[in-house]
Amino acid sequence: MITADAGYSNAHCAPKYDRKSELKAFDDTKAGVKGLVDAGITKIPRIFIHDQLKLSNSRSGDSEFIIPILDLDGVNKDAISRAKIVKQVQNACQNWGFFQIVNHGIPVSMLDEMIDGVIGFHEQDTEVKKKFYTRDYQKRKVLYNTNFDFYAAPAANWRDTLSCVMAPNPPDPEELPEVCRDIIVDYAKKTTELALTLFELISEALGLNANRLKDMDCAEGLFLLGHYYPTCPEPELTMGTDSHADSSFLTVLLQDRLGGLQVLHENEWVNVTPIYGALVVNLGDMMQLISNDKFKSVNHRVLAKDVGPRVSVACFFRSHFQSEKARRYGPINELLSEENPPIYKEITVKEYLSHSYSIGLDGTSPLDHFKL
Ligand code: OGA
Ligand code: NI
Repeated sequence: MITADAGYSNAHCAPKYDRKSELKAFDDTKAGVKGLVDAGITKIPRIFIHDQLKLSNSRSGDSEFIIPILDLDGVNKDAISRAKIVKQVQNACQNWGFFQIVNHGIPVSMLDEMIDGVIGFHEQDTEVKKKFYTRDYQKRKVLYNTNFDFYAAPAANWRDTLSCVMAPNPPDPEELPEVCRDIIVDYAKKTTELALTLFELISEALGLNANRLKDMDCAEGLFLLGHYYPTCPEPELTMGTDSHADSSFLTVLLQDRLGGLQVLHENEWVNVTPIYGALVVNLGDMMQLISNDKFKSVNHRVLAKDVGPRVSVACFFRSHFQSEKARRYGPINELLSEENPPIYKEITVKEYLSHSYSIGLDGTSPLDHFKL
C-alpha cells in the first residue's frame, strides 16, 4: 500500500532506502500515478524525487527561440510549392530536429477525439484499466503502465502511458481498450498517411529520391503512446518525462493545450508552445543513425505541473519488439563519402530497443553504444 507520505520525510537525510521494494509496491497497485493522485496525496513518494542538481537548471523555457512552424498546404500542388516546403523541412531537420506542422490533413475533430480517447482510457474504472497493466513488451501489443523504464531509471516520472503496437502487425481490435478502440485505429491510419508524406519530404531534404525512406520500411512500424500526466502536488521535485531522444525514425506528437514539453536547443530549454490543431514532428535516433548524423535526434523533456492532467499522443514510426522483420539499418550509402565515413554499425531496431530499454532515460544516448 502506498501511503500519502511514503517515506518522503526521509528522502534527503536518508538517501539509502529499499528503492526496489518501494518501486514494486507501487507497481503492484497497478493504479499508476493517477492512483496516487486519486488517493489524495499531498507529497510525492520518494521514488519520484529527482536529483535536485539535475533539476535545478532553468525550467521556464522562456528562451528567445521558437520551434519552426511549417505549413504543409501545397505539398502536392506544384513543384515550386513543394520545393519550398522541402527547403523548410531541411532547415528544421538540420537546425532543430523538431518542428510543428499545420495543414497536415488530419481534421482537428479527430485530434480532439484522440485526446479524449486517451483521457477516457486513463480515467475509466481502475479495475478495468488494471487488466492492461504489465511490463511485458515482448508479448503484449497493448498495455498500460507507469514509465517503460520504471526499474532502470534513477528516478521515476510523473506519468502513466497506454502503449499500442499498431503496425506492422496490428492487434486484434478486441485487444484495444474499448473506450478508445475506434479512434486509435482511425488516428493510426491517418497519422501513417501523414508520416508517409513526411518521409518523402525528409528523403528529399536529405537529397535522396522521395521514396528512399519509405522503401527502407521506415514507416512500416507504428508504436502509439497515449501519455497521461496527472496534476502533481510537488512538480518542482520530479519530471513528467526525463530528457531523452526518441527511439523512432520519426515521431508525430499530438499534445493538448497545457504545455510542458521542452526541447534542448543550443543548450537552452525551449518551450514547444501548444498550437491548437497543429502536430509536433521530431526526428528519432534511428533517423540520426541512417542519416549518419546529417539529421540529429534532439533531446526533449516534459515538466511535471501543478495543473493537469496533461495528455499527449506520440506516434513512433519504427517497429517494436514483436516485429519478425530483422532488417538491418546503417548509414545510407548515398550519404557516405571519404569525408563522411560511416559513424554507426548496421543494427536492427530490436537491437537498438533492447539496449535503450535496458538503460532507460538516464541522460546518456543509446546511440553511442552503436558507434563504429
Ligand atoms: C515521447 C515524448 C512528449 C509529450 O513520448 O517520447 O517525448 O509531450 N512525449 O508527451
Ligand atoms: Ni520523446
